[in-house]
Amino acid sequence: MRKGILSLTAAAAAITLGLTACGGESGGTTGAQETATQAAKPGKIGVILPDSKSSARWETADRKYLEEAFKTAGVAHDIQNAQGDKNTFQTIADQMITNGATVLVIVNLDSGTGKAVLDKAKSQGVATIDYDRLTLGGSASYYVSFDNVKVGTLQGEGLAKCLTEKKADKPIVAELNGSPTDNNATLFKQGYDGVLQPKYDSGDYVKGPDQSVPEWDNTQAGTLFEQMLTQEPKIAGVLAANDGLGNAAITVLKKQKLNGKVPVTGQDATVQGLQNILTGDQCMTVYKAVKKEADATAELAIALAKGEKPTVSGSVKDPEGGRDVPSVLLEPQAIFFDNVKDVVTDGYVSKDELCTGDFAEKCTEAGVS
Ligand code: BGC
Repeated sequence: MRKGILSLTAAAAAITLGLTACGGESGGTTGAQETATQAAKPGKIGVILPDSKSSARWETADRKYLEEAFKTAGVAHDIQNAQGDKNTFQTIADQMITNGATVLVIVNLDSGTGKAVLDKAKSQGVATIDYDRLTLGGSASYYVSFDNVKVGTLQGEGLAKCLTEKKADKPIVAELNGSPTDNNATLFKQGYDGVLQPKYDSGDYVKGPDQSVPEWDNTQAGTLFEQMLTQEPKIAGVLAANDGLGNAAITVLKKQKLNGKVPVTGQDATVQGLQNILTGDQCMTVYKAVKKEADATAELAIALAKGEKPTVSGSVKDPEGGRDVPSVLLEPQAIFFDNVKDVVTDGYVSKDELCTGDFAEKCTEAGVS
């Protein structure tokens, strides 16, 4: 692997000069005006992010780290965001290919449209990478993500830890799952149900409402959770699949003055999620070092752009296509009040953005420096 990185960097540097002229376009939202200047350039990498609302990560972390990696390597790139629209997603993919992308990196909005994009790219000789979300039945050459079942396990264990600390007796647990069309949401649920189901079975916990949130939509999550709490006012713990869904639940709990009493989980170590942990409104989040995910993806994409066939050590079975997809899976980390500081130390969130106003005191208490 290391050898691969070195040779890749050297080769990437060699093509830098030829591509500097088009280096500044990566933040654009339309590819149209680039068509003329980009068409003839080889080795361009296109990245399609899913949206900017289901999680802050896509625009604040993924875009930033991918862009940094491509810029450092001096490769031409175009990173765009489909803003949750499947038609836009397909249009962006078509434009990128027309504009000379030879590698396409996608975070699908669902497996159906993701597969259509991947298959079309493949038929045109464009190499593809599934970034963060596996496209079921798809044809991506590589998949780079985290161990997503482990993410869910950490959430289940985290909720159990907070319920124990609250000395909750036979707590009713509600589950707010991610989008039913995101394979990751299935894997997260597999992970946390692996922890929670035995507790429901043994009678230690009581299974409460359990619902998926279409497209990870935070507003819908609030409405759903409001209904859950009306239906079952004694909900004592909330397994929310990410920080956005968790915050939606916390907002509803606040209205009933139940925030801080009912532990809520999350994921992504967003500024909002971490601040909710600092105030005690959120039990935990899962930190995924997106920089590592972006770097691993950039390394593969750059090798592919050079026409190489990079090897990776892992693989994941696509349950729909029955295919072993060469994969890089990274380790997630559980974050509670006591180790919020780890996320800052790692450079994922800055002290300045986290420790604003009233949070400053909590930051000091949590050892964030
Ligand atoms: C990602 C999460 C993210 C969620 C919503 C999932 O596929 O793995 O990090 O919170 O999508 O965007």
